[in-house]
Amino acid sequence: MALKVKSIRGTRDVVPADAAKWQYVERVALEVAGTCGVEELRVPTIERTELFVRSVGDTTDVVQKEMYTFEKGDESITLRPEGTAGFVRAVMETGLLDGALPVKVCYGNLSCFRHENPQAGRLREFHQFGVECFGCPSPTADAEIIGIVHDICTRLGISGVELHINSIGCPRCRPDYHRALVDYYKAHCGRLCDTCKERLEKNPLRVLDCKEEGCAGLKAGAPVILDYLCGECGEHFAGLQQRLSAVEIPFSVDPFIVRGLDYYTKTVFEFVTEGAGAQGVLCGGGRYDLLVEQMGGSPTAALGFGMGLERVLMVMEAQGCAFPPAKPVDLYIGSMGEAENIKALELAAQLRREGFRVLCDTVGRSVKAQMRYANKMGARFSCILGSSELERGAAVVKDMDSGEGTSAALTGEGLRGFLYGALADPRAFTIGTDK
Ligand code: HAM
Repeated sequence: MALKVKSIRGTRDVVPADAAKWQYVERVALEVAGTCGVEELRVPTIERTELFVRSVGDTTDVVQKEMYTFEKGDESITLRPEGTAGFVRAVMETGLLDGALPVKVCYGNLSCFRHENPQAGRLREFHQFGVECFGCPSPTADAEIIGIVHDICTRLGISGVELHINSIGCPRCRPDYHRALVDYYKAHCGRLCDTCKERLEKNPLRVLDCKEEGCAGLKAGAPVILDYLCGECGEHFAGLQQRLSAVEIPFSVDPFIVRGLDYYTKTVFEFVTEGAGAQGVLCGGGRYDLLVEQMGGSPTAALGFGMGLERVLMVMEAQGCAFPPAKPVDLYIGSMGEAENIKALELAAQLRREGFRVLCDTVGRSVKAQMRYANKMGARFSCILGSSELERGAAVVKDMDSGEGTSAALTGEGLRGFLYGALADPRAFTIGTDK
């Protein structure tokens, strides 16, 4: 096939067999988050560019290099590169923050856009499941949020996931740390990339997550933030570790996690695993206690995480995790002529209203070709309507596996009775066989 227009590099189609896997992962994630009182909030894909510049930060790779931004009229608009900024705007703008706190909201399958170099696990359009929680300063909230990710991975059967945590302090402890970083990197200035030379002046923390070889090579000898935490940040971090131990979530402290986004304060964390592509980061998150105020709201402690769904699915495939079986077609109603085809459609409509998955001929094929198609679609049962079936008001319903036939009346009632007897309740949610 000579396709005239192809898809954009770094974007993916999800074919039906894979879409069922996506639905399963999203459903498990929403269910797990729901056990902590998290509800879904839906936000637009496009936002004002300024929203991301102000929150994600103008010295980050995301804002400097990766955003899809365009002008429309006199507005600069950006396809969201992540979910947190839009959620902060939305909880303020919709008044959710004016109600009872904490507010716990999530996104089930948020498309995000970053102009990165595509490779395994790194796309230009990717999707996140994430939770954002507002009005919860206690480290108990940090442990709760981290617990959601931990439980999602467990429910999905993903193994070998490691939790790495760090604290990157607050405006009280950062100035001393920034000075130490600047002194260290200035001593090795020749090895820094041009962007980092500039960042060193404006935002030295960002040098720590630069992926350029020279800059990344210097990281191991750099001063660590944990030696500079103020009393409050130190206590918060100790409190988080105590709580993670209490809920039996293993973790390790990695003082070099700084995350690539500017809004974080105190706790930052990453769930890392092999098989999630280049970086191996399945999920990242942390606290952003100052962001709501920076965006014009009252001081509101907040935190959250974003989990890359492509990476989750990649790891699940690589580890051979179980997915629920695909839903089969319950019945194929074949037909020999026009009157029979209309009857087939009528019966199919009645059974579909009950929730059964029923197909009939919509092409005008021969009976033989119809049965071939029914087979291909994995139909559990089939029947063929000819003039004698219509006269008798009954047809033989054939089990497609065993070939065994049973006579059933050609009424919604008759076929429904048969299918109810032979199959599980069609409205039972079969995709969730994990429970
Ligand atoms: P992030 O670390 O930039 O954080 O992204 C979160 C997750 O999205 C990553 O761990 C990864 O699984 C996935 N991801 C990121 N970029 C790509 C990509 N190019 N291709 C495929 N997957 C990708 C955030 O976005 C923050 N908003 C998370 C957060 C929420 N922090 C607090 N609340």
